[in-house]
Amino acid sequence: MAINEKLAAALNNQVTAELEASIVYLQLAYVLDDLSLTGMASWMKKQYKEEQGHAEAFATHLLDRDYLPQIGDINPPKVDVSSAIEAFEASLAHEQKITGMIRELAILSDSVKDYDSRALIDEFLSEQIEEESTVKTILDRLRLADTGSGILHIDAELGER
Ligand SMILES: [Fe+2]
Repeated sequence: MAINEKLAAALNNQVTAELEASIVYLQLAYVLDDLSLTGMASWMKKQYKEEQGHAEAFATHLLDRDYLPQIGDINPPKVDVSSAIEAFEASLAHEQKITGMIRELAILSDSVKDYDSRALIDEFLSEQIEEESTVKTILDRLRLADTGSGILHIDAELGER
């Protein structure tokens, strides 16, 4: 089933954006591992794989609609963090950016009356609510913890993901 060119280009751009997000999470995993917060590092690595799954979902939709996805340049923003709180702040900021992009996809698909991509985009609108909420909760708990043992407790919890 054919797809509007402009919408296809935006969905294609999302494939690259999700791959970029996965790299951000991988870098955050490395930082946390370096801080010996191995549970949090493992949580970030799960997220890294989940983001690859998101990229795949958008790519699959394009392929199903006879459009060849073309992965663009992957330019993840520089991750400059040195604590657990900063790592999850960076994660939240990145998720908020992705949410903005998904909302733009919803607006665009609406404007070109592409009802066929609606289920996919709706799924990601819900996904972003969940992602932001999860990260925000972790961040709140990290701010409450503020002691070494509190942080280690959260680290153990996140390692069970
Ligand atoms: Fe994502």
